[in-house]
Amino acid sequence: MSGIYQRFAEVYSRGSYPEFSKWVFNLLPSLLEKYSLPQTGKLLDLACGEGAFLEGMLLHGWQVTGLDQSGDMLRLAEKRLAQTGQTFRLIHEDMRNLAIQNKFDLVTCWFDSLNYLLELTDLENVFYRVFKALKTNGGFLFDMNTLYGLFVRWQQQPVYLPQENEDMLEIHIPSCNYERSEASLRIILFVRNSQTNQWERWEEIHTQKAYPMDLIQASLEKVGFRVLDRLGNLTEQSPAQPHSGRVWFIAQKPV
Ligand SMILES: C[S@@+](CC[C@H](N)C(=O)[O-])C[C@H]1O[C@@H](n2cnc3c(N)ncnc32)[C@H](O)[C@@H]1O
Repeated sequence: MSGIYQRFAEVYSRGSYPEFSKWVFNLLPSLLEKYSLPQTGKLLDLACGEGAFLEGMLLHGWQVTGLDQSGDMLRLAEKRLAQTGQTFRLIHEDMRNLAIQNKFDLVTCWFDSLNYLLELTDLENVFYRVFKALKTNGGFLFDMNTLYGLFVRWQQQPVYLPQENEDMLEIHIPSCNYERSEASLRIILFVRNSQTNQWERWEEIHTQKAYPMDLIQASLEKVGFRVLDRLGNLTEQSPAQPHSGRVWFIAQKPV
């Protein structure tokens, strides 16, 4: 996992990727209301990336903290959040080392960031640390790619071009390792340097692991969470199915 989302951070922020968590931000209030979760207070966004979700929450009165292991993503988040003129906190850390107690009303982790944890023990460790970081009644919401998502959806196009314009070409080539329940994207980037006008090329390999939904739920319950729901479609708020490419967990730290 080391070395990813560094040089890629700028490409990420120029693409449509930040739209994902902006979309989640717009749907969040109705979810918090539906599941009687805190609707304001202190938020921790794990793997916050370049901060699009945090920005929305900050502007809507939340006290926000973002954590990410990529310094390059955090630099973009810092710039984005500073423009609001409001106070915020960013932590440069691996989420596996989160060590904050009883502080937050809400912890979130969006855009399949938890799939980057390639060992079940790491996923459970993060769940345990999030549980500790939450206040009683606090909510933990996140999405993950499912087995179907990684092994069917990701593989549907042997080559995918998320960004193609006169200054950039981003190529994704998927592959899978069924034995390890892992899928990888080989991301090949060609970016024109705006100062020299020269093209630069580099690559990143992004590997994600899929966990069965029941195992994710069992891992949450093992550390003490109550799972309120698992959705397959956030817009419709409909339950996750075996053929859902993404699952949305809504969990709470009970009294
Ligand atoms: C797909 S991006 C999502 C960013 C943001 N949540 C969003 O919705 O745009 C994945 C992010 O997870 C971060 N990440 C991956 N593994 C991490 C870890 N173990 N600890 C902290 N951040 C991690 C990466 O640095 C990257 O910013």
